[in-house]
Amino acid sequence: STPLRLGIAGLGTVGTGVIKIIQKHADLLTDRTGRPITISAVSARTRDKDRGVDLSGYAWEDDPVALATREDVDVFVELMGGADGPAKAATEAAIAAGKDVVTANKAMLAIHGQDLAEAAEEKGAVIRFEAAVAGGIPVVKALTEGLAGNKTLRVMGVMNGTCNYILTRMESAGLPYDEVFEEANALGYLEADPTLDVGGIDAGHKLALLSAIAFGTKVAFEDVELEGIERISIEDIRQAADMGFRIKLLGVAQMTGRGLEQRMSPCLVPASSPLGQLENATNMVVLEGDAAGQIVLRGAGAGEGPTASAVMSDVLDIARGFRVSTFGRPASTLTDVVSAKATAA
Ligand code: NAP
Ligand code: HSE
Repeated sequence: STPLRLGIAGLGTVGTGVIKIIQKHADLLTDRTGRPITISAVSARTRDKDRGVDLSGYAWEDDPVALATREDVDVFVELMGGADGPAKAATEAAIAAGKDVVTANKAMLAIHGQDLAEAAEEKGAVIRFEAAVAGGIPVVKALTEGLAGNKTLRVMGVMNGTCNYILTRMESAGLPYDEVFEEANALGYLEADPTLDVGGIDAGHKLALLSAIAFGTKVAFEDVELEGIERISIEDIRQAADMGFRIKLLGVAQMTGRGLEQRMSPCLVPASSPLGQLENATNMVVLEGDAAGQIVLRGAGAGEGPTASAVMSDVLDIARGFRVSTFGRPASTLTDVVSAKATAA
C-alpha cells in the first residue's frame, strides 16, 4: 500500500514526540490506516544536536520551505512555532505545492488560520490542527465530529497548561513563581516566548480557534477580551483558598445579545468543583450543544506525549482519506461576526 510520507519541521518537544510515536508504533499505525506512515525529511535550526531520537533514516533540510515542498513529502508537519517567520512561509509554500498540512501552531492559526485554510481549500489540500487547542485533548474532533449535529451554545475551559501549572503549584507546594516557572519550562510546557503563556495570549489563541469551529465564524483573535495571570500574587491565591475558591485562567465563548463574546481571564472557581480541582498542566474544556447538553473533556494540555498524540490523530485522519477542514466546514463559509467586545466599546 502507498505510504503517507511526512516532512517534519521542528524537532523540539512536540516534533521529537511525533517521531517517537511513529518509530514506536509503526505497525499499529499501518494496521489502523492500511498504509505505512513514513518520514521523508526533517528540519530544525541546528543540525548537530542530540535530540534523543534516531534521525539517521531521514533526509535533512536546513530550510523549512525546501522541506515543505519536497516531492517525497505528502504532508508537511509544522512544529516550529511562531505566528510568522519560517512557520508561515513554509506552511504557505506547502499549501501552494498542494500538500496537506498538520500543525500545532495556534499562534500562527489565530492570526493567519483563515487565509491559510482558504488557500488550502483552493488547492484541494487540508490544514489540520488538533494539537493547537488543549494539547492531548481531542477537543477539535469532539466539536467537529462528535457534536456535528448540534448547534453549539457555549465553549469554556482552562486551556493553558503553563498557567494552570503555575497557579496550582504556587498554591499546593507553596513555591515562589520563579521556581514553578522553571519547573514548567523543564517539562516542555512553555511557548518559546513565555509571555504568550502568562499573558493569556496563548489561551486566547486557542479560544479564538474553538470559537470559529463552534460558531462557524471567522477566527477573530482580536475580539478576545484578554487578561493574563501576571498580576496574580501568592496572596491572591491564598485569599481565594481561604474562601474556598481557586484562581483559574478561564476562557468562555458564547453568542450573546451583544454579539460573540470571547473572554479569557483569571476567575474564581469553587475549589470543590471539577474546574477547581484541575492540577498541574491539566486542561478542561466544556462544550455545550443544544442536543447533547454539556460535554466535559479533561486531560494533559501540554507536553511531549499528549501534544504528539494530537498531531498523530490529524496525520492518521489524512492517511485514512478524511478531508473535511478542521473547522468542520469549508473555511470559505466561515462568516463575519459582530463581536461583544466591539459593541461594548
Ligand atoms: P520547541 O521545543 O521550542 O521546538 C521548536 C523546534 O523548531 C526546534 O526544534 C527548533 O530548532 C525549530 N525551529 C525554531 N525556529 C526554526 C527555524 N527558524 N527554522 C527551522 N527550525 C526552527 O517547541 P515545541 O514546544 O515543540 O512547540 C512546537 C509548536 O507546537 C509550537 O507552535 C507550539 O506552540 C506548539 N505546541 C506546543 C506544545 C507543548 O506542550 N510544547 C503543546 C501544544 C502546541 P532547534 O531545536 O534546532 O532549536
Ligand atoms: N504553552 C502551552 C501551554 C502549550 O502551556 O498550554 C500547549 O499549547
